[in-house]
Amino acid sequence: MSTSIPVITIDGTSGVGKGTLAQFLVQNTGFHLLDSGAIYRALAFGAVKAGLALDDVAELVALANTLPVKFEGTSIVYEGEDITPQVRTEDVAGVASTIAVISEVRAALLARQKAFATLPGLIADGRDMGTVVFPNAEIKLYLTASAEIRAQRRVKQLKSQGVSANIAQVTRDIEARDERDLNRKTAPLKPADDAIVIDTSHLDINEVCQKVLSLVVEKVLIA
Ligand code: DC
Repeated sequence: MSTSIPVITIDGTSGVGKGTLAQFLVQNTGFHLLDSGAIYRALAFGAVKAGLALDDVAELVALANTLPVKFEGTSIVYEGEDITPQVRTEDVAGVASTIAVISEVRAALLARQKAFATLPGLIADGRDMGTVVFPNAEIKLYLTASAEIRAQRRVKQLKSQGVSANIAQVTRDIEARDERDLNRKTAPLKPADDAIVIDTSHLDINEVCQKVLSLVVEKVLIA
């Protein structure tokens, strides 16, 4: 399906710089954005709101099939309510990664994600974008960085927002989420065979953005 619509996939662990790179590419290509993590987070939010048990596959799938979420600019809107700040918490991320291990839930969200691929093109950010959702993508990127470095970045970001955070706790949360995302049976986080792997541990994210943009120009995905 993505043969005539250019798709660039960005996969990797949480806090690795995927979001920053995706936003940069959206601005520089004019392509649409699929923030697939936000779909999993919205499902987690809806499940908690509805009081669903996190192992109730039938109810979770029913919710996933009719998920009342809309993306308006940078806002995530659920049943008319802007839930952007609520879904960006580590608690919601933890629930999202817990229900994301359920293969039936992933299958229920697949068509919704594929539908984001429209002209002029798509930047798809997630865990299984290059392996499962868009296996024919023109460019597949896989970002990595150590858990310690990602935790340091997260604490710095929280501090800049006036939120204090404990580095040891943030590192543990990141490692627990990595463990679930990397080791689940369905669509585990891993680079596609044809992915370009970029370790961002010791790279400035602006350098990463510029490198990737050169690649996009080289592949003539944009003029
Ligand atoms: O990218 P994020 O931190 O917003 O994602 C939150 C969780 O959602 C992540 O820990 C696992 C799940 N997720 C997934 O399983 N597959 C995706 N394509 C995107 C997110």
